[in-house]
Amino acid sequence: MSDELEPEIYTSENISACLDTIILGRRITLHRQVGSTNDLTREAGRRGEPEGLVVLTEEQVAGRGRLGRTWAAPPGCCVLCSVLLRPRFATHHAFYLTIAAALAIYRTVLHFQRGAEGPQDKVSIKWPNDVRIGGRKVAGILCESEFGGEGWSFAVVGFGINANLQPEQLGELRSPATSLSMELGAPVDRTQLLCRVLAELEAIYISLQNGQFGPIHSQWAAALDTLGKRVSVQDGTTTIEGYALRVDPGGALVIRLDSGEEKRVLAGDVV
Ligand code: BTN
Repeated sequence: MSDELEPEIYTSENISACLDTIILGRRITLHRQVGSTNDLTREAGRRGEPEGLVVLTEEQVAGRGRLGRTWAAPPGCCVLCSVLLRPRFATHHAFYLTIAAALAIYRTVLHFQRGAEGPQDKVSIKWPNDVRIGGRKVAGILCESEFGGEGWSFAVVGFGINANLQPEQLGELRSPATSLSMELGAPVDRTQLLCRVLAELEAIYISLQNGQFGPIHSQWAAALDTLGKRVSVQDGTTTIEGYALRVDPGGALVIRLDSGEEKRVLAGDVV
């Protein structure tokens, strides 16, 4: 492609040497600047590209976040990635792709923390899928699926990880936010970070393809920092306040309202 990167940034050789996967990264495209990696990946899905395509960029000029928001990240310091998947499991389990990506990044951050010196703040997932360190967001996930008459057409799992952002660059992001390098006290090798996430994501994806939803749900639920707390969830113009009781098998957050009624929330922003 005309906008593929020069070797010194991300390189296919470095990624191939580091990547230990069978499905994810069968084909990788590297870009200097795109609108949104999710949009490029969706186009590839519609063209019939096999699953496993990984689209990476240094910069997005139309990066998209959850709930119709934009996703801004300074160029060259984050992992901005989308993966094309063609799941075989039932479409009512589509939310498990979000769970899978959150868990993969959560496990990866824990792995990087184990290699760091000094005490590290707690890694957690804010329902449904923000990965946080010490309550500060380090990664966001945007999964988008298309369905045909028979079920899945394809799914796009997009994620942005604040790898090497400096404190002064966080002002451009939604707060509270952090970066992996700030938390670890050292720059992060983005290739290693990316490859670890892809390997974790592939392992979880294979489990889901084999019907292992229960164990994946339990691991995700155990990593959530939202349960057992008083929360306020904003879903469009509606705000739901109450006590976060549990997550149900569909991934919904079950909130006990002050009236005692239990309410399932499927999407929204938790405070
Ligand atoms: C969120 O927390 O709101 C989700 C952010 C997801 C951002 C990633 S960056 C790579 C991929 N391409 C996009 O346009 N969005 C996702």
